Amino acid sequence: MKVLMLNGSPKANGNTNAALLEVGRTLENEGISYEIFQMGGKPVRDCIGCGQCSEKGCAFTDDDVNEFIAKAKEADGFVFGTPVYYAHPSGRILSFLDRAFYAGGAAFRFKPGASVAVARRGGSSASFDCLNKYFGIAQMPVVSSTYWNMVYGRVPGEAEQDLEGMQTMQNLAKNMAWMMKCFELGRKNGIALPDTSAVVRTDFIR
Ligand SMILES: Cc1cc2nc3c(=O)[nH]c(=O)nc-3n(C[C@H](O)[C@H](O)[C@H](O)COP(=O)(O)O)c2cc1C
Repeated sequence: MKVLMLNGSPKANGNTNAALLEVGRTLENEGISYEIFQMGGKPVRDCIGCGQCSEKGCAFTDDDVNEFIAKAKEADGFVFGTPVYYAHPSGRILSFLDRAFYAGGAAFRFKPGASVAVARRGGSSASFDCLNKYFGIAQMPVVSSTYWNMVYGRVPGEAEQDLEGMQTMQNLAKNMAWMMKCFELGRKNGIALPDTSAVVRTDFIR
Protein backbone atom coordinates (compact mmCIF):
# COMPACT_ATOMS: atom_id res chain seq x y z
CA MET A 1 0.00 0.00 0.00
CA LYS A 2 1.14 3.50 -0.78
CA VAL A 3 0.39 7.01 0.40
CA LEU A 4 0.78 9.87 -2.06
CA MET A 5 1.58 13.20 -0.46
CA LEU A 6 1.56 16.64 -2.03
CA ASN A 7 3.89 19.40 -0.86
CA GLY A 8 2.15 22.70 -1.59
CA SER A 9 5.27 24.71 -0.81
CA PRO A 10 7.62 25.90 -3.54
CA LYS A 11 10.41 24.76 -1.22
CA ALA A 12 11.19 21.06 -1.62
CA ASN A 13 13.25 21.11 1.58
CA GLY A 14 11.22 23.50 3.69
CA ASN A 15 9.09 23.05 6.77
CA THR A 16 6.10 21.51 4.97
CA ASN A 17 8.37 18.87 3.54
CA ALA A 18 9.79 18.19 7.01
CA ALA A 19 6.27 17.60 8.36
CA LEU A 20 5.42 15.28 5.46
CA LEU A 21 8.70 13.40 5.88
CA GLU A 22 7.80 12.71 9.50
CA VAL A 23 4.48 11.25 8.33
CA GLY A 24 6.33 9.21 5.71
CA ARG A 25 8.94 7.80 8.08
CA THR A 26 6.22 6.60 10.44
CA LEU A 27 4.21 5.11 7.58
CA GLU A 28 7.28 3.15 6.51
CA ASN A 29 7.62 1.82 10.06
CA GLU A 30 4.05 0.60 9.66
CA GLY A 31 4.92 -1.17 6.38
CA ILE A 32 3.35 1.42 4.08
CA SER A 33 5.34 3.20 1.37
CA TYR A 34 5.00 6.86 0.45
CA GLU A 35 5.94 9.43 -2.13
CA ILE A 36 6.12 13.17 -1.65
CA PHE A 37 5.05 14.90 -4.87
CA GLN A 38 6.87 18.25 -5.03
CA MET A 39 5.01 21.07 -6.72
CA GLY A 40 8.13 23.24 -6.67
CA GLY A 41 8.07 26.83 -7.82
CA LYS A 42 6.88 26.36 -11.39
CA PRO A 43 3.73 28.20 -12.53
CA VAL A 44 0.49 26.34 -11.80
CA ARG A 45 -2.65 27.14 -13.73
CA ASP A 46 -5.91 27.80 -11.96
CA CYS A 47 -9.11 26.04 -13.04
CA ILE A 48 -10.94 28.19 -15.61
CA GLY A 49 -14.10 26.04 -15.65
CA CYS A 50 -13.67 25.25 -19.34
CA GLY A 51 -15.53 21.94 -18.99
CA GLN A 52 -12.93 20.14 -21.07
CA CYS A 53 -11.97 17.59 -18.39
CA SER A 54 -11.77 14.11 -19.89
CA GLU A 55 -10.54 10.63 -19.05
CA LYS A 56 -7.11 12.04 -19.88
CA GLY A 57 -7.49 14.52 -17.03
CA CYS A 58 -7.24 18.30 -17.19
CA ALA A 59 -7.16 19.99 -20.60
CA PHE A 60 -4.10 21.99 -19.52
CA THR A 61 -1.03 19.83 -19.96
CA ASP A 62 1.72 22.35 -19.27
CA ASP A 63 2.07 21.60 -15.55
CA ASP A 64 2.05 18.52 -13.31
CA VAL A 65 -1.64 18.09 -12.46
CA ASN A 66 -2.27 15.18 -14.82
CA GLU A 67 0.86 13.41 -13.63
CA PHE A 68 -0.45 13.76 -10.08
CA ILE A 69 -3.87 12.35 -11.08
CA ALA A 70 -2.13 9.35 -12.68
CA LYS A 71 -0.20 8.73 -9.45
CA ALA A 72 -3.38 9.22 -7.40
CA LYS A 73 -5.07 6.37 -9.29
CA GLU A 74 -2.37 4.01 -8.00
CA ALA A 75 -2.29 5.38 -4.43
CA ASP A 76 -4.25 4.08 -1.43
CA GLY A 77 -4.19 7.22 0.73
CA PHE A 78 -3.28 10.91 0.58
CA VAL A 79 -1.69 13.66 2.64
CA PHE A 80 -1.87 17.23 1.38
CA GLY A 81 0.62 19.55 3.07
CA THR A 82 0.70 23.31 2.74
CA PRO A 83 2.55 26.28 4.12
CA VAL A 84 0.17 28.90 5.50
CA TYR A 85 0.09 32.04 3.37
CA TYR A 86 -2.03 34.91 4.70
CA ALA A 87 -3.98 32.48 6.88
CA HIS A 88 -4.93 30.17 4.00
CA PRO A 89 -3.25 27.33 2.07
CA SER A 90 -0.77 28.35 -0.61
CA GLY A 91 -2.51 29.57 -3.75
CA ARG A 92 -0.58 27.02 -5.75
CA ILE A 93 -1.91 24.01 -3.82
CA LEU A 94 -5.49 25.24 -4.16
CA SER A 95 -5.13 25.80 -7.92
CA PHE A 96 -3.50 22.39 -8.24
CA LEU A 97 -6.07 20.49 -6.16
CA ASP A 98 -9.07 22.26 -7.72
CA ARG A 99 -7.99 20.90 -11.07
CA ALA A 100 -6.87 17.48 -9.78
CA PHE A 101 -10.23 16.89 -8.08
CA TYR A 102 -12.37 18.39 -10.84
CA ALA A 103 -10.63 16.43 -13.60
CA GLY A 104 -9.66 13.31 -11.66
CA GLY A 105 -11.96 13.01 -8.65
CA ALA A 106 -12.51 9.26 -9.07
CA ALA A 107 -8.85 8.64 -8.32
CA PHE A 108 -9.38 9.84 -4.74
CA ARG A 109 -12.78 8.36 -3.94
CA PHE A 110 -13.10 6.13 -0.83
CA LYS A 111 -9.39 6.49 -0.03
CA PRO A 112 -8.30 8.02 3.31
CA GLY A 113 -6.98 11.55 3.28
CA ALA A 114 -5.40 14.03 5.67
CA SER A 115 -4.20 17.59 5.41
CA VAL A 116 -1.29 19.27 7.16
CA ALA A 117 -0.75 23.01 7.65
CA VAL A 118 2.63 24.53 8.46
CA ALA A 119 2.93 28.10 9.70
CA ARG A 120 5.12 30.55 11.51
CA ARG A 121 2.31 31.58 13.88
CA GLY A 122 -1.27 32.05 12.62
CA GLY A 123 -3.83 30.69 10.19
CA SER A 124 -3.09 26.99 10.61
CA SER A 125 -6.56 25.82 11.54
CA ALA A 126 -8.21 27.86 8.74
CA SER A 127 -5.78 26.30 6.25
CA PHE A 128 -6.36 22.84 7.68
CA ASP A 129 -10.15 23.34 7.37
CA CYS A 130 -9.79 24.54 3.81
CA LEU A 131 -7.83 21.52 2.60
CA ASN A 132 -10.17 19.13 4.41
CA LYS A 133 -12.99 20.31 2.13
CA TYR A 134 -11.56 18.26 -0.74
CA PHE A 135 -12.04 15.07 1.27
CA GLY A 136 -15.60 15.93 2.23
CA ILE A 137 -16.84 16.18 -1.34
CA ALA A 138 -14.92 13.17 -2.63
CA GLN A 139 -16.19 10.50 -0.21
CA MET A 140 -12.78 10.27 1.41
CA PRO A 141 -12.54 9.17 5.05
CA VAL A 142 -10.58 11.85 6.91
CA VAL A 143 -7.72 10.67 9.10
CA SER A 144 -7.12 12.56 12.33
CA SER A 145 -4.38 12.70 14.93
CA THR A 146 -3.90 13.68 18.57
CA TYR A 147 -4.12 17.37 17.64
CA TRP A 148 -5.16 19.21 14.49
CA ASN A 149 -2.52 18.51 11.88
CA MET A 150 -0.35 21.59 12.21
CA VAL A 151 3.34 22.19 12.61
CA TYR A 152 5.09 25.45 13.49
CA GLY A 153 8.23 26.90 11.96
CA ARG A 154 9.31 29.91 9.90
CA VAL A 155 12.58 29.15 8.17
CA PRO A 156 13.51 25.65 6.94
CA GLY A 157 14.79 23.54 9.80
CA GLU A 158 12.47 24.99 12.44
CA ALA A 159 9.58 22.54 11.94
CA GLU A 160 11.69 19.67 13.24
CA GLN A 161 11.99 21.56 16.53
CA ASP A 162 8.21 21.63 17.03
CA LEU A 163 8.11 18.46 19.07
CA GLU A 164 4.35 18.32 19.54
CA GLY A 165 3.85 19.07 15.84
CA MET A 166 6.15 16.20 14.90
CA GLN A 167 4.36 13.92 17.35
CA THR A 168 1.08 14.91 15.73
CA MET A 169 2.55 13.88 12.36
CA GLN A 170 3.66 10.51 13.76
CA ASN A 171 0.26 9.79 15.26
CA LEU A 172 -1.45 10.90 12.06
CA ALA A 173 0.63 8.34 10.16
CA LYS A 174 -0.16 5.58 12.67
CA ASN A 175 -3.87 6.32 12.39
CA MET A 176 -3.68 6.41 8.60
CA ALA A 177 -1.83 3.09 8.48
CA TRP A 178 -4.42 1.52 10.79
CA MET A 179 -7.30 2.80 8.63
CA MET A 180 -5.67 1.63 5.40
CA LYS A 181 -4.99 -1.83 6.80
CA CYS A 182 -8.61 -2.11 7.97
CA PHE A 183 -9.88 -1.10 4.52
CA GLU A 184 -7.54 -3.59 2.86
CA LEU A 185 -8.80 -6.38 5.12
CA GLY A 186 -12.38 -5.41 4.36
CA ARG A 187 -11.70 -5.45 0.63
CA LYS A 188 -10.05 -8.88 0.86
CA ASN A 189 -13.05 -10.18 2.81
CA GLY A 190 -15.56 -9.11 0.21
CA ILE A 191 -16.86 -5.87 1.67
CA ALA A 192 -17.86 -3.91 -1.41
CA LEU A 193 -17.53 -0.17 -1.79
CA PRO A 194 -20.86 1.58 -1.17
CA ASP A 195 -23.03 2.30 -4.20
CA THR A 196 -23.43 6.05 -4.04
CA SER A 197 -24.04 6.54 -7.75
CA ALA A 198 -27.61 7.81 -7.42
CA VAL A 199 -26.76 11.46 -6.89
CA VAL A 200 -29.30 14.08 -7.92
CA ARG A 201 -27.64 17.43 -8.44
CA THR A 202 -29.77 20.49 -8.03
CA ASP A 203 -29.13 24.15 -7.58
CA PHE A 204 -31.31 26.78 -5.98
CA ILE A 205 -33.20 27.84 -9.10
CA ARG A 206 -34.50 24.42 -10.17
C1 LIG B 1 3.54 34.90 1.23
C2 LIG B 1 3.68 34.31 2.60
C3 LIG B 1 2.65 34.44 3.49
C4 LIG B 1 2.74 33.89 4.78
N1 LIG B 1 1.66 34.00 5.62
C5 LIG B 1 1.72 33.43 6.85
C6 LIG B 1 0.60 33.48 7.72
O1 LIG B 1 -0.47 33.99 7.40
N2 LIG B 1 0.73 32.92 8.95
C7 LIG B 1 1.90 32.33 9.36
O2 LIG B 1 1.95 31.87 10.48
N3 LIG B 1 2.95 32.22 8.54
C8 LIG B 1 2.90 32.76 7.29
N4 LIG B 1 3.97 32.63 6.43
C9 LIG B 1 5.16 31.86 6.88
C10 LIG B 1 5.14 30.41 6.37
O3 LIG B 1 3.90 29.78 6.58
C11 LIG B 1 6.22 29.61 7.11
O4 LIG B 1 7.48 30.22 6.90
C12 LIG B 1 6.29 28.16 6.69
O5 LIG B 1 7.15 27.47 7.55
C13 LIG B 1 6.79 27.97 5.26
O6 LIG B 1 6.77 26.60 4.93
P1 LIG B 1 7.76 26.01 3.81
O7 LIG B 1 9.17 26.10 4.38
O8 LIG B 1 7.32 24.62 3.60
O9 LIG B 1 7.58 26.86 2.59
C14 LIG B 1 3.91 33.18 5.15
C15 LIG B 1 4.95 33.04 4.23
C16 LIG B 1 4.84 33.60 2.97
C17 LIG B 1 5.97 33.42 1.98
